[in-house]
Amino acid sequence: MEIIHFSAECYPVAKVGGLGDVVGALPKYQNKLGHVAKVVIPAYQTKFFQQHEFEVVYDGWVKLDFTNYQVRIFRELTNKLGFDLYLVHIAGLLDREKVYGYHDDVSRFLAFQIAALDWMAQWEHLPDVVHCHDHHTGLIPFMMGNCFNYTKLNQVPTVLTIHNAQYQGQFGWDKLYYLPPYDLWNSSKLDWGGAINPLAAAIKCAWRVTTVSPSYLDEISHVANGLENLLAQERGKSAGILNGIDNEVWNPQKDPMLFKNFNSRTVESGKKANKEELCRVFNLDPNKPLFTFIGRLVDEKGADLLPEICYQALAQSQGEINILMLGSGDPGVEDRLNEITQHHPGHYNAYIGYNESLSHQIYAGADFLLMPSRVEPCGLNQMYALRYGTIPIVRRIGGLKDTVIDIGDGGFGICHDQTSIWDVVHAIGRAYALYLNQKKMKEIRKFIMALDHSWDSAAQQYIDLYQLK
Ligand code: ADP
Ligand code: GLC
Repeated sequence: MEIIHFSAECYPVAKVGGLGDVVGALPKYQNKLGHVAKVVIPAYQTKFFQQHEFEVVYDGWVKLDFTNYQVRIFRELTNKLGFDLYLVHIAGLLDREKVYGYHDDVSRFLAFQIAALDWMAQWEHLPDVVHCHDHHTGLIPFMMGNCFNYTKLNQVPTVLTIHNAQYQGQFGWDKLYYLPPYDLWNSSKLDWGGAINPLAAAIKCAWRVTTVSPSYLDEISHVANGLENLLAQERGKSAGILNGIDNEVWNPQKDPMLFKNFNSRTVESGKKANKEELCRVFNLDPNKPLFTFIGRLVDEKGADLLPEICYQALAQSQGEINILMLGSGDPGVEDRLNEITQHHPGHYNAYIGYNESLSHQIYAGADFLLMPSRVEPCGLNQMYALRYGTIPIVRRIGGLKDTVIDIGDGGFGICHDQTSIWDVVHAIGRAYALYLNQKKMKEIRKFIMALDHSWDSAAQQYIDLYQLK
């Protein structure tokens, strides 16, 4: 089958979070299964774009309102990512450093989707499936099915994967005329709550909808930032497919970013060496358990509670634990996380910012990883932690619930029910008690490193879904 993935992110070209990881891995594993999966993303001003060679496969224009923008689509020449990568360059809109966060994001992603479809509508053949990821590509199913320019594409099945239903990309009806022409009787397919809502439009118009874990599919019929009823209504065409991880990128035995490589046989000495180096760099004590958090500092991740959790856990443990934070996001949380270093030097530190290598080093060197998420559609961090022998401490929600079993239930992680300071501090206490039982810790480390969360099975589940057509 030929599958075309449309996304705003794709590792290692452009990554902000887990969406990038998924779109950088799933197509590669689909190709390994004998299919032809290709990826189309915007051409941001990233290092990858500047440092690789491309051929031009399309030249054109896209008109938004009264402005014409020049479009050029590039194909990466080496195929070294394991799939064909196409970058959509739109001068003045997409050629910027960051992926998101600009005042004109609505225009940027709308232009991206229109340009990509203009190009696809010129192909001599049709792909078997168009697979869209999140709201940035959510208007594609509507446009393929309804816009006069794309009638050629209207029989191609479209799949929407919801990585996060919190973000929907809504904009006002005053921008209706940015879209290519279609029969206005179909406008209700775009509407949710009086605005054009790309995620809702995709849920309505896509042939199939998936979420990135089975539990998240159950949860979003009850909590989905206003889309609950729609999701409940479209449940019949929806499926929850748990994400995998890219075992080639996330392999402690070969990972070039680690201080020392290790496998499940050498896990004790390997993790010790990585921990010692981390502790040296961040002024922590390698003889104490190391708790960490890696992620976007937003309320969804429970980040607003992290400063107080750290203060309480550090006070209660009376100097017996270390905490290291890696993240960026809410400036208030960033400041508060930085401040703790002055109060607990030698036991606490924080790196505020985005640092891919440091994240790998922390997964390798830490003992425990905290994920007190309020919402977690899948979560990849806990799976990376498991593969690197680090025990996850997670709230039972979404994908965390689907991947981590509590030690009290014969499992290998620590689970708690609420995103509350008390629950997380209590979970840290349970983890500390576990840490004191080094025999058990060793058993768990070996066990979790052997768990298989690779993309092999999930990539096949998507193929099975496409083949329902
Ligand atoms: P989300 O996509 O909601 O942020 P995921 O758990 O799916 O959450 O994926 C997060 C990804 O982003 C992981 O690869 C994680 O290691 C990475 N990540 C998040 N914050 C940082 C950071 N500050 N530095 C490096 N990597 C980060
Ligand atoms: C989103 C979700 C996260 C998920 C990721 C990849 O960013 O917040 O839980 O793991 O997408 O699907």
